[in-house]
Amino acid sequence: MHNAAFAALGLNWRYLAFEVPPDQLKSALLGAQQMGFIGLNLTVPHKLLAVPLVEELDDSARLLGAVNTVQFLTNAAGKSVSRGYNTDGDALLRAVREDLQVELQNARVLVLGAGGAARAAVLKLAAAGVAELALVNRTGDKATKLAQEARRFFPATNVSVGYPRGSVDLVLNATALGLQPADALPLDLTAFSWAQARAAYDMIYRPAETAFLQSAKAAGCRTANGLGMLLYQGARALEIWAQTAAPLEVMRTALEASIHGR
Ligand SMILES: NC(=O)c1ccc[n+]([C@@H]2O[C@H](COP(=O)([O-])OP(=O)(O)OC[C@H]3O[C@@H](n4cnc5c(N)ncnc54)[C@H](OP(=O)(O)O)[C@@H]3O)[C@@H](O)[C@H]2O)c1
Repeated sequence: MHNAAFAALGLNWRYLAFEVPPDQLKSALLGAQQMGFIGLNLTVPHKLLAVPLVEELDDSARLLGAVNTVQFLTNAAGKSVSRGYNTDGDALLRAVREDLQVELQNARVLVLGAGGAARAAVLKLAAAGVAELALVNRTGDKATKLAQEARRFFPATNVSVGYPRGSVDLVLNATALGLQPADALPLDLTAFSWAQARAAYDMIYRPAETAFLQSAKAAGCRTANGLGMLLYQGARALEIWAQTAAPLEVMRTALEASIHGR
């Protein structure tokens, strides 16, 4: 999606993938900076490891304690500086708002999972003014810890652990369940019914429709997969590097062709 965007913007840039062992991340970042890279993206497990390795942290990365985008800038003294951002959180909010038309201010949300993606989601949803967050995770302790952290940062949000009793505006799957065809559903439909939910978002984008989304859709909920989140985090990273609006539809077409072969 980035190379398609560079072509559309007439930029003589290339986006390349490199596999870097975690213990080599520091030298890889310095090497990229020395070689005049404009920036780069990082994925698991580098998002957390990069936090102390960049010279400056944008607020987006400070809130989530994770960096997925690095920009190499030249400061007033002519020195190259690395700045870390996190574009995942805003991308999720944008995808939920645009793909599902869910208004997050004062919303009630059930979040499934308590890993890195769930943590980013919970903190960003609370920052966006969600009124109630219910957290459910296989390993209960991790949900409890995440709830404590969210309450500390965002005391105005009511954060509970376990399935909510009443209705919710959104159920968000931030677990890895659904990546494999034989996976169980990420939620217990004897403890929570789709009749309680208006919309369902799955961070998974391959397969395009998980059993979680199929069951939500069959019950009449609006549904969207994680492709929008992936697209919007990439579009925002491009905007940081290029300082111009991302050609979103060009990027979406390239992404869909790459991921779903269409
Ligand atoms: N669309 C996007 O742009 C985007 C971005 C980031 C992530 N994602 C997706 O989000 C998902 C989570 O990613 P992550 O980075 O948060 O991973 P992670 O830190 O490894 O967390 C994995 C989560 O899935 C749960 N889980 C894994 N296997 C399970 C099982 N067999 N039964 C029940 N729960 C299980 C884990 O529960 P425990 O705590 O009990 O282990 C944990 O809550 C992945 O599917 C990833 O592809 C999508």
